[in-house]
Amino acid sequence: MSSTSKLSVTVDGEQYVDTVEVRTLLVHYLRETVGKVGTVIGCDTSNCGSCTVLLSTGDEPARSVKSCSVLAVQADGATITTVEGLAGPDGSLHPVQRAFHELHGLQCGFCTPGMIMSAVDLLRDNPHPTDDEIRDGLSGNLCRCTGYQNIVRAVRAAAAEEVTS
Ligand code: FES
Ligand code: FES
Repeated sequence: MSSTSKLSVTVDGEQYVDTVEVRTLLVHYLRETVGKVGTVIGCDTSNCGSCTVLLSTGDEPARSVKSCSVLAVQADGATITTVEGLAGPDGSLHPVQRAFHELHGLQCGFCTPGMIMSAVDLLRDNPHPTDDEIRDGLSGNLCRCTGYQNIVRAVRAAAAEEVTS
C-alpha cells in the first residue's frame, strides 16, 4: 500500500495540489509545504488550540478545527482559512484581529492565531455572545499569559462591530 497520497486543497484562497505522506498532519502540511507559519504548534496533545484553522468540506459551512488533530489527506477537497487569510485584500485587519490588537488581547502572542480563528468561528454562530459564551467558545484554546480578560474584551468588542465573516 502506498504511504503517500495526492491532496488538493484551497488555502487562504489559493489552490494547492501536493503529494503527501498519509501520516502527515494538516498543521505540518500547512506550515511546511504551504508556508502558513502563522498557524502554530503549541503542544503535542491536541490541547492548546494554537493550530486552529477554519475548514469546510463540500457544502458544509467552515468550522474551526485543531489542525494537529487532522491528517492532511482528510482535508482533501477542503477549503481552509488560516489566520493569514483573514485580512482583507488591501491588508486591512479582520475586525477580530483589530480588536485583539487594540484591546491587548495578547502578550507573547503564541496562542493568538488559534484564539482569533476560534473567535471568528464563535461569532459566526453567535454574533452577540455573552462573556460566558465567549469563554465557552474559546475553551479549547489555552493562553498562558493573559488571564483571558482582555481576550474576552476583544471578542466582545469585535462582536459589537457585528462581525460575521
Ligand atoms: S498544537 Fe496544540 S492543539 Fe494543536
Ligand atoms: S498571549 Fe501568550 S499564550 Fe496567550
